Amino acid sequence: EKGGHDYFMLKEIEEQPEALANTLRGHFDSGRIVLDEQRLSDQDLRDVDKVFVVACGTAYHSGLIAKYAIEHWTRLPVEVELASEFRYRDPVLDRDTLVVAISQSGETADTLEAVRHARGQKARVLAICNTNGAQIPRESDAVLYTHAGPEVGVAATKTFTSQVAANYLVGLALAQARGTKYPDEVAREFAELEAMPAAVQKALSTVEDVRALGRRMADSKAVLFLGRHVGFPVALEGALKLKELAYMHAEGFAAGELKHGPIALIEEGLPVVVVMPSPKGRAVLHAKLVSNISEIQARGARTIVIAEEGDDTVRPFADELIEVPAVPTLLQPLVSSVPLQVLAAEIARARGYDVDKPRNLAKSVTVE
Ligand code: F6R
Repeated sequence: EKGGHDYFMLKEIEEQPEALANTLRGHFDSGRIVLDEQRLSDQDLRDVDKVFVVACGTAYHSGLIAKYAIEHWTRLPVEVELASEFRYRDPVLDRDTLVVAISQSGETADTLEAVRHARGQKARVLAICNTNGAQIPRESDAVLYTHAGPEVGVAATKTFTSQVAANYLVGLALAQARGTKYPDEVAREFAELEAMPAAVQKALSTVEDVRALGRRMADSKAVLFLGRHVGFPVALEGALKLKELAYMHAEGFAAGELKHGPIALIEEGLPVVVVMPSPKGRAVLHAKLVSNISEIQARGARTIVIAEEGDDTVRPFADELIEVPAVPTLLQPLVSSVPLQVLAAEIARARGYDVDKPRNLAKSVTVE
């Protein structure tokens, strides 16, 4: 049942191309994005003047990624908030606010309460969910199912990348309704999304190398993760996976924040995982990260660099280099998350822990 894998999580990591294809299937028809399980009209989408994304944990990280895409494509302001903070904060909501509630299980208590609060304030709520008929979609105005299939491992993997893909669909649907993208641009973006399962399949070719690296890192005391732009939430997610599975101190930072504090943590031999942007996509971001890596390497960090294949400029600064395929900048989290999932799982396994059932955690968190 683990399909020849040592643990379910690895099987689920390898199912990501298929899960992504399932998330996208049926959502582009006759030249248009269709969110077919939704009960929001085109007019409702046109009226939206602000977006809130609310979620917990890994789902929250998918929301942080969504912000970059939705703001870029729609020019709508997007706020991403932890569901447990949102509802106690008196957020400014009205009927033209779209609240996107992301939850794999659809039962997370904090996210459910955030949905209830938003609807009580007349905001429209769109749920992104992996579980048919769960409470959050039942109480929302509309639902977009991720169709990633059941996930046995407690740590979210394929459901995370599927949430990211579903968020992109919401962004494109809003752009289409608002006219901030021409139909041919929407079609082109969707075609790029459709190419992602194959790109993730290529990213999976790193699995055995990353597993070996994980085994070599099993004795580390702590690991830092750095990223910029969409690589920042990927870094946060990489750190969360490592905490929950390997019970290690792990922290994700925006690379630009290094000199505002975290650089003080760098010491001889500390592993630092860096999520590089494409050298072609955002050259400025890339150059800044190269300079960050050289700074931390000079202070003795052991740099583990996730970079686009063929990115030679980063090579001299990478003690370990993991190459992922070239994809459009906004979609990069779908490929760069893969090695970080494998790394966390394999470090945990090398430390002798149950990768599929980390201590103290439950697959669905129905208490606040
Ligand atoms: C981490 C993880 C959790 C969940 C969080 C929200 O691997 O799985 O952080 O992402 O508990 O769960 P859902 O998406 O079911 O609302």
